[in-house]
Amino acid sequence: EDPRKEGIASSIKVVPHVPKGGIMFQDITPLLLDPKVFKDTVDLFIERYTGKDISAVAGIEARGFIFGPPIALAIGAKFIPLRKPRKLPGEVISEEYVLEYGRDCLEMHVGAVQQGEHVLVVDDLIATGGTLCAAINLLERAGAKVVECACVIELRELKGRERLKDTPLYVLVESN
Ligand code: PRP
Ligand code: MG
Repeated sequence: EDPRKEGIASSIKVVPHVPKGGIMFQDITPLLLDPKVFKDTVDLFIERYTGKDISAVAGIEARGFIFGPPIALAIGAKFIPLRKPRKLPGEVISEEYVLEYGRDCLEMHVGAVQQGEHVLVVDDLIATGGTLCAAINLLERAGAKVVECACVIELRELKGRERLKDTPLYVLVESN
């Protein structure tokens, strides 16, 4: 195990019952306040994806916008924002999904990806996997190939990984 992962794990603050009873909110803001740990987090992804023929990083609003762009810049890929509804001004394709708490939708500009383009999907956390699943569906409908999903945290007991089926998932730390 990479020793940097310990620092990452210990800088995530677990807040019980936020935003509602039974949910353990994983707060990444302390990680962002520590430049060394923030850099370690991004570096671990950069080391994994450099030279892997990935030409696009898709980040999921909002917290995927924190980790996706520095990875994209470092590996020489474009950054594609997958946004919440009615935020993008151009023509979009949309994918609805069910979240731990409520329904939501992701949108992407038409033309953001090319046919067969190799895309990495980035988010801060996988819980039920509904969000990543929607991102994969959206990108595949647009003709892209999602080579992997990358998250900082995996909530193992929700088994979100199983919903991703054929798309590999890489995470830095696990939580229960
Ligand atoms: C959180 C988290 C992931 C998603 C994971 O985002 O950042 O994107 O939930 O849940 P799932 O695996 O059960 O789908 P959320 O939509 O709460 O808000 P955000 O805009 O703060 O990222
Ligand atoms: Mg999110």
